[in-house]
Amino acid sequence: MKSGLEDVVAAETVLSDVDGQAGRLVIRGHSLDDLVRRTSYEDVVKLLWTGFFVDLPEDLGRSLGRAREEVFEHLASADADLFGQSSFDAVRAVLARLPDGNDLETALRLVAAPAVLTAGILRLQRDLAPIAPDPTAGHAADMLRMLHNRPPTPEQTYALDRYLVTVSDHGLNASTFAARVIASTRAGLTSATLAAMSALKGPLHGGAPGPVLDMLDNIGTPELAGSWLQKALERGERLMGFGHRVYRVRDPRADALREAIRVLVRAGQVDPERLHLAQVVEETALDLLARRKPDRSLQTNVEFNTALLLEALGFPREAFTCVFAAGRAAGWIAHAREQLATGRLIRPQSRYVGPQAQVPVASNASASGSASVRSSGAPDR
Ligand code: COA
Repeated sequence: MKSGLEDVVAAETVLSDVDGQAGRLVIRGHSLDDLVRRTSYEDVVKLLWTGFFVDLPEDLGRSLGRAREEVFEHLASADADLFGQSSFDAVRAVLARLPDGNDLETALRLVAAPAVLTAGILRLQRDLAPIAPDPTAGHAADMLRMLHNRPPTPEQTYALDRYLVTVSDHGLNASTFAARVIASTRAGLTSATLAAMSALKGPLHGGAPGPVLDMLDNIGTPELAGSWLQKALERGERLMGFGHRVYRVRDPRADALREAIRVLVRAGQVDPERLHLAQVVEETALDLLARRKPDRSLQTNVEFNTALLLEALGFPREAFTCVFAAGRAAGWIAHAREQLATGRLIRPQSRYVGPQAQVPVASNASASGSASVRSSGAPDR
């Protein structure tokens, strides 16, 4: 038994390869560095889904735009009491009401849903009317427009698009594995996406970027970074935004997002003080982690830069995981379809380490009035 299934190969995939030693991510034969430079999110959805849907449209962007409109109708009919929950739980609850199925329409709605529902629910939670999608707009630009009710700047659109591409797929991470388990039961893509979202919610997976900002706020100023981080480590806490199960060198996604942040910085759309604090915290944390865990290379992961990027784009921190879901939905669905096409029911074994069943005693023992069961003699672990 491998704790955390570390290094266990549980699927074969043509979708993405995470090379943890080289710090490289390949998505369908393209390195992430290459993809982020020249591919929109819509193109990456198409890239991931090619071969897994027979009826993939030439203009996937238009189909995705129409799917955003469809999902918006569901938002209008959602119960108001849902919006009292956290934005992530509310998005998941409304998404759960979308029809289940394995077809392209279902898939497109599931990619559209986190974008439309996150923007709409965040507005409803602030007593603002949700903004209807523009089916002719790009996915990233429309998500920002639906959130802020104004057209985003080109730099903001570029940054969010780059983010969505960066997180679109990433091997057999916890949420993708969850999606494949559900898909293997033939439950449907909506069910698989809901399971994946639930896995993504946890702070060890997609829930880390909000706590990264909490950490920056708690540290307050660059001078206090060293002592704050040192104390957190002494308390046995994990520093959010650092470490990864697979990467032993820098997470290439962190670099892809750094470039998007640079574009926002050049356009004056990031608070320079925040950026300076983040840089000092990152350098200090890496230094402390290297000294504390010299045998385990703990580097900056995607979530650290995600936090800075999504904050600069005006998403509240409690909704960062919803934005992650908006990008990763493409990968979940591709993996679910691949599982349907090539996989079997996922049903591993567990090794029982509990007490053995007690064996009933022989009939002469019960006749003599002693206890009716006796210990099997096995160790009670
Ligand atoms: N801060 C402090 N210590 C860390 C750490 C972090 N961010 N990440 C790992 N460690 C330590 C662990 O405490 C452990 O120490 P121990 O052997 O004394 O118990 C050691 O490094 C190995 O960690 P391990 O639990 O084996 O790593 P993992 O592969 O199970 O976990 C993460 C990977 C991502 C869950 C982990 O690095 C983490 O919790 N990071 C913070 C949360 C985060 O940023 N998540 C987003 C991931 S993209």
